[in-house]
Amino acid sequence: MSYLKLCILFFLPFVILFAACEDDNMMDPTDNDLIEATYDPQAVTLEVPDYFPDPIIPEDNPLTEAGILLGRHLFYDPILSSDSTMSCSSCHLSSKGFADGLATSEGVLGLNGKRSSMPIINLAFNHKEFFWDGRAATLEAQALAPVEDHLELNESWDNVEEKLRRHATYPQMFREAFGIDRRSEITRDLATKAIAQFERTMISANSRFDQVIWQQQGWPTDAEQRGKILFTVEDAVEGEPHPGCSHCHGSELFTTNNYFNNGLDDVENLEDFPDVGLGGVNNVIYDNGKFRAPTLRNIALTAPYMHDGRFETLEEVLDHYASGGHDTPNEDVNIAPFQLTEQDKSDLIAYLNMLTDTTFINNPDFQSPFE
Ligand code: HEC
Ligand code: HEC
Repeated sequence: MSYLKLCILFFLPFVILFAACEDDNMMDPTDNDLIEATYDPQAVTLEVPDYFPDPIIPEDNPLTEAGILLGRHLFYDPILSSDSTMSCSSCHLSSKGFADGLATSEGVLGLNGKRSSMPIINLAFNHKEFFWDGRAATLEAQALAPVEDHLELNESWDNVEEKLRRHATYPQMFREAFGIDRRSEITRDLATKAIAQFERTMISANSRFDQVIWQQQGWPTDAEQRGKILFTVEDAVEGEPHPGCSHCHGSELFTTNNYFNNGLDDVENLEDFPDVGLGGVNNVIYDNGKFRAPTLRNIALTAPYMHDGRFETLEEVLDHYASGGHDTPNEDVNIAPFQLTEQDKSDLIAYLNMLTDTTFINNPDFQSPFE
């Protein structure tokens, strides 16, 4: 008898035994077994202050208790990454205002992307697009991207779907959220819908600014009041240079969500921007170097600043604006030099500090469901 035949004879029983065990324990991801759980969706209405705009809730993704709960689990679960070490929350930490405190974020491969993490705050009210360059039209579309990004979670959605279908508890949660009957109906579309539902609940409207200006609890300090005048274009004295922050960071959301070039880069021509931003998405060369103006709510918590995290402090940000920025052809007209005394600086920062909302970042509903 040859050595090979001997080997086969010897190992065959083990192979058969192993295959049998596998059959018993492993759930075939295409298995069409019915999921045992009741589907009884409870609609959720967001609590929004009346001075905020209406939230944008897509018709095909209404908020439900079970959907939000599922989204919160997925947001905090490293099951979305290739090596089970990172989740969305790794780069969107509550303690950092749901950004990550880094100039650029590091993914599972230990490599850094080129941009700084963005805070997840009041995104239900963004009527424009998502990301610094607006390349995702909806929150649902946004949530698809980090999983397959090699510089972020570096996993395939096919694998994620398989892991979720085989999971001990997710199939029930997907049924409770979306009424599916079978494990095989768990898809990336439903997963990202749930994540978007959770994100839409992340509303910040209880900062000192909200309390003092809108809820009439107490008075602004003199510094805060002077800072407000410096910030708000409506308060400008005609003909005098004014910081004009509210042109682009205006409204109760402290952003217009519009795209501008705010003069950060010194480039010879529009093709030379190290990161072209909006222009890379719509292929309009005049939009190279334009980025979405982010909200300034919770800004004290989300340093470093700008799309590449180039400024460590708000003082540096203000020095940049006071300089009038670099005069590229598409620099916005509202970026122009103005005088900024030390007093002005600390007044503006006192005003920006009013936007810190610690009840938002500490809200138990937004923390990990696994702790
Ligand atoms: C490795 C770090 C990292 C991980 C992991 C990560 N993000 Fe992000 N997130 C970022 C960065 C960086 C940006 C900005 C990228 C850009 O604009 O190109 C961003 C942007 C966003 C935005 C856009 C916010 C806005 O105002 O437009 C949302 C929403 C978001 N992430 C949600 C998520 C979700 C949901 C997950 C998990 C599925 C996730 N992120 C995983 C780093 C990360
Ligand atoms: C012409 C529109 C415009 C004006 C005016 C403007 N900004 Fe901005 N701001 C932007 C844009 C666009 C960005 C994002 C730029 C980038 O990262 O490339 C930004 C980014 C910022 C950031 C960083 C945000 C973050 O999450 O990293 C801060 C802070 C800021 N602005 C504060 C101010 C203050 C304070 C003023 C007034 C002195 C002001 N801005 C005036 C458009 C403007």
